[in-house]
Amino acid sequence: MKSLVRLDKYLADMGIGTRSQVKEKIRRGLVTVNGALAKGPEQKVDTQKDTILCDGAQVGYVHYEYYMLNKPSGVLSAARDKHAKTVVDLIDEKKRKDLFPAGRLDKDTQGLLIITNDGPLAHELLSPKKHVSKVYYARVEGCVSSQDVRDFACGLKVDEELTARPARLTVIHVSAEENISEVLIEIQEGKFHQVKRMFQAVGKTVTFLKRLTMGPLHLDPGLLPGQYRSLTEDEIRSLKHPEEAARPGSLENGRLKDNDLLMDVDAVIFDLDGTLIDSMGVWESIDEEYLGRFGIPMPEDLQEAISGISVTQTAIYFKETFGISDSIQEIISDWNDMAMEHYTNRAPLKGGALLFLKYLKHRQIPCAIATSNSRDLTRAVLESHGITRYFQAVVTGEDIHKGKPEPDVYLEAAARLDARPSRCLVFEDIPYGIMAAARAGMGCAAVFDTFSAGEDDEKRRLADYYIRDYLDIFNQTYEELK
Ligand code: URA
Repeated sequence: MKSLVRLDKYLADMGIGTRSQVKEKIRRGLVTVNGALAKGPEQKVDTQKDTILCDGAQVGYVHYEYYMLNKPSGVLSAARDKHAKTVVDLIDEKKRKDLFPAGRLDKDTQGLLIITNDGPLAHELLSPKKHVSKVYYARVEGCVSSQDVRDFACGLKVDEELTARPARLTVIHVSAEENISEVLIEIQEGKFHQVKRMFQAVGKTVTFLKRLTMGPLHLDPGLLPGQYRSLTEDEIRSLKHPEEAARPGSLENGRLKDNDLLMDVDAVIFDLDGTLIDSMGVWESIDEEYLGRFGIPMPEDLQEAISGISVTQTAIYFKETFGISDSIQEIISDWNDMAMEHYTNRAPLKGGALLFLKYLKHRQIPCAIATSNSRDLTRAVLESHGITRYFQAVVTGEDIHKGKPEPDVYLEAAARLDARPSRCLVFEDIPYGIMAAARAGMGCAAVFDTFSAGEDDEKRRLADYYIRDYLDIFNQTYEELK
C-alpha cells in the first residue's frame, strides 16, 4: 500500500472537499503539515507518519476501500453472520478486515452493492435526507397498469407505517397472457422490503429483484453474480461528490435514460427502409417514376403487394404483373440507379438513430442490417450517412431467397454476428418484418413510420415494444409501451 500521496489527494480522500476545494484551502494557508504551512497541493505527505491539520483540526488518514459487488441471491447483506454466508464473505479473505455493505439488499435480491470500510460515506449514501436514487429491475406477478405508474409517482401509501416518496415506475413489458410484468423502479429511500411492499400494496408480487444503480454508480455488466471489483477513482469521486458526477442518463455515463430494453440483448438487428432511414416515400416515388416510363399508372395497392419481399421477388412481381420485357437484372439495375440518387440525397436517418447507434457501440453491442433492399444500395446509404462502421454485418435481399415474413434474413444476420436468435433485438417498421423477427425467435421493437401509420395497431400487437423514434428509447413512458 502506498504511504506517500499528494496533499490535495490526502485531504480530498478524507472528505475535506473536492480537489479544487482543498487546493483553495491550501492556497489560503489553512493547511499545515507537521506544524509547517503546506507548500502546495502537490506536496507529498506520508499517510502513516505526517500530522496534517486543516482549519486547525487534525485530519487522520484512513485507508478506505471500495468494492462493487454483484450480489447473488441467497447471501445475507451483513458483514458477518454465525450461520449464513454474507456478502463480505464473498470478498477475498485478505481484503475483508473491516469491510461492511453500504446498505442492504434482501437475501433473495441480486445486484449492485457497495462494500467498503468508509463509514462516513456509507452514512451519506444511506441517509434518508440525501435521497440517493436507486434503480431496480423487477419481474412482477400481475399486470402493471398506468394507474400503478401514477400511484407510484404520487407517493404510494404502502401500509399504516409507510407512505413511500414518489417513485418512478417504467414499464418494460406486460404480458396479460402470462400475467407478468417487467419494470424498472426508481426509489429514493430504502425502507425494509420497500420495493416488494410497494408492489404488494397494488396487488402484485415481486418474483425477481435486481438493483442496477445506486446514486451515480451503475452495476458493471461484466460482473457475474458473486463477482466484485474495486471502484475506480472516478466512481469513488462521483459517490463522494455526486454534484460533480455526469448527469444520469447521459451517453457519457454509458446508460439509457431510464428504461433498458437492451436488457438480455447480445445483438441488435435493424431493418433499413422506414426503420433506420426515412425512405418509404422514396420507393413510392421510384415505382411511380419507373412505371411512368412504360406509361403504366401506379396501382393503389402496389406498396402493400410488395411489402417486405426481396428486391428480386419485387422485380419478378413487376415483370409478371405489368408485362415488363426487361430482364430481372435490368429492372433491378434501373431501380438501383434511380434509388441511388433518391436514397443518398432524400432519405434522412430516423430521429435519434445516430445517437442510438453510438450508444450501442459504446456498450459494445454488435449490430447488423437485415434488409430486403439491394446490397449496393444498402452500402451507399450507410456510406452517405457515415454509419457503415456501426454495423458488423449487412444482410440484404440478395443474400437470402425468402423475404419477410420468413425469418431467413434475420437468422442470417444473427448467424453472421454469432449471436443466439433469442438474444437478438430487431427494429422493424412493418408488420411483415415484425412477423419475420418473431418467427426467428427474436424480440422486436416496432418503429413508427408515416407509411405504415395505418397499421400501427397491428404493429403494437405484434411487437414487444413500440417506439416513435429512437429518442423514445432514452425516455420511454408507459404510454408508448402500451
Ligand atoms: N426493496 C426490496 O423489497 N428488496 C430489496 O432488496 C431492495 C429494495
